[in-house]
Amino acid sequence: MPEHHRPLAARLLLIATLVFMARPVRADVDFDRDIRPILSDACFACHGPDETERQADLRLDTRDGLFRQQDGVSVVAAGKPGESELLRRLLSADPDEQMPPPDFGLKLKPAQIELLREWIADGAKWQQHWAFVAPQRPGQPTVSQPDWVQNPIDAFVLARLDRERLKPSPAADRRTLIRRVTLDLTGLPPTPEEVDAFLADKSPNAFETVVDRLLRSRRHAERMAIRWLDAARYADTSGYQSDGPRDMWRWRDWVLEAFLQNKPFDEFTIEQLAGDLLPNATLDQKIATGFNRNHRGNAEGGVVPEEFQVEYVVDRVDTTFTVWQGLTMGCCRCHNHKYDPLSQREYYQLFSYFNNIPEYGRAIKEGNSRPYIEAPPPPQQESLNKLKRLLASDQQQVADVDLRMPELVAAWRKSVKGEPEDWTDIDGLIVRLTLDGSLENSATEEQRAAQRSATTVPEPN
Ligand code: HEC
Ligand code: HEC
Repeated sequence: MPEHHRPLAARLLLIATLVFMARPVRADVDFDRDIRPILSDACFACHGPDETERQADLRLDTRDGLFRQQDGVSVVAAGKPGESELLRRLLSADPDEQMPPPDFGLKLKPAQIELLREWIADGAKWQQHWAFVAPQRPGQPTVSQPDWVQNPIDAFVLARLDRERLKPSPAADRRTLIRRVTLDLTGLPPTPEEVDAFLADKSPNAFETVVDRLLRSRRHAERMAIRWLDAARYADTSGYQSDGPRDMWRWRDWVLEAFLQNKPFDEFTIEQLAGDLLPNATLDQKIATGFNRNHRGNAEGGVVPEEFQVEYVVDRVDTTFTVWQGLTMGCCRCHNHKYDPLSQREYYQLFSYFNNIPEYGRAIKEGNSRPYIEAPPPPQQESLNKLKRLLASDQQQVADVDLRMPELVAAWRKSVKGEPEDWTDIDGLIVRLTLDGSLENSATEEQRAAQRSATTVPEPN
């Protein structure tokens, strides 16, 4: 029978069976993985961190709130689904009691309610959100083939294969291996010469040699830097309207160099956030702070500059928090966060750090908007230094000549034969150099009279 001719009931049964089969095999209900997302999605809007929206003075985002007992009513009674008000509210047929309230427009699915029931029945183990728990190094798992394990990570790989009842694949041949590791670490295939060198290297640590070479390579640094550049919203254009050009590539190169030098993460962080505030900050440390100028710049003539000056600060807060905390903070710009333990107050505390840059909200259409520093790369800086030294020495020569000028002029005067009798350094003097080297004032009587009445420059002595 073709699929579309099946009776509806049979099709529904088929769908139900498929849904049932598709449900993942689960070990225990895990609060972090299974329960918190449901509460966050359906309940935190009214029972979460935002006290201005909180209903029934009930928090379901904290342990105290979830296990609250009040007037003989337990929100969650561990091990006792039947005595848990939370579950009663989810199962209630009375619209005045149902949670979430029907007008909220979101209903829990039966499978979600069942998960909550299971969790309570299993003892309602609560966990702090994993993102706020410092990671701990787990012990190495025991595995089926300890000989296969060459380093601790292998043990985790094999433990997982064991769980799935799978055997490790045989080791790849050397050509495949160098191709994979080169693609992994640089994003590019190996050259034929690199393959040949690896095939010819019979030493026991030939593979380590390849890995070390790749880790030191510029290509590897580029591959690592790309992710950071994306996260840090790097662009050599301003992003609005015609997307005019600006120069951020000096900062890009700083990131690349940081990966190349394997700069420790704390320095990498400090220099980008506040390199200019370090004592005796170097040009590189100042360039690092370009991180904070990667935001877009609006050059539209009609914008309210103050509005966009605020937008840029918001951009810095959001990007800094997302990139370094792995948590988006943007929601509490306008109200306490609905799902994460972040307040609007904390948002503006962070905001204030970034709100002290003397910038103007309307960006310029082409080029970098103020404030900025000049950051010539080393070869340009060298040429600049050379030109500055040249200029300084030329200026010194001019100054020297200036000092000796009276003496030089006097000597020159003596050197010319037949000094004209009517010598003034003003316009109108008409001097003729005769063939025998003498000078002759060929001005007319009228012109001479005009010269005499004009201010004469004092004779140098
Ligand atoms: C749109 C807002 C809203 C949402 C969403 C919401 N609630 Fe409520 N909740 C209320 C209000 C209002 C009350 C107080 C009135 C009442 O008791 O019915 C309440 C009361 C409760 C109570 C009773 C507290 C007590 O003092 O005994 C529980 C338990 C509860 N909610 C659980 C939940 C759970 C679980 C969810 C998510 C599945 C949820 N609520 C989602 C608004 C909400
Ligand atoms: C630019 C300001 C702004 C940002 C950013 C913002 N919100 Fe809101 N949000 C509001 C305003 C204003 C309201 C209140 C609307 C109303 O009164 O109906 C609101 C209401 C809500 C509500 C409904 C709460 C209730 O009591 O009904 C939820 C949920 C919410 N926001 C979640 C979020 C989340 C999640 C984010 C981040 C992804 C976010 N908001 C970012 C301005 C913002």
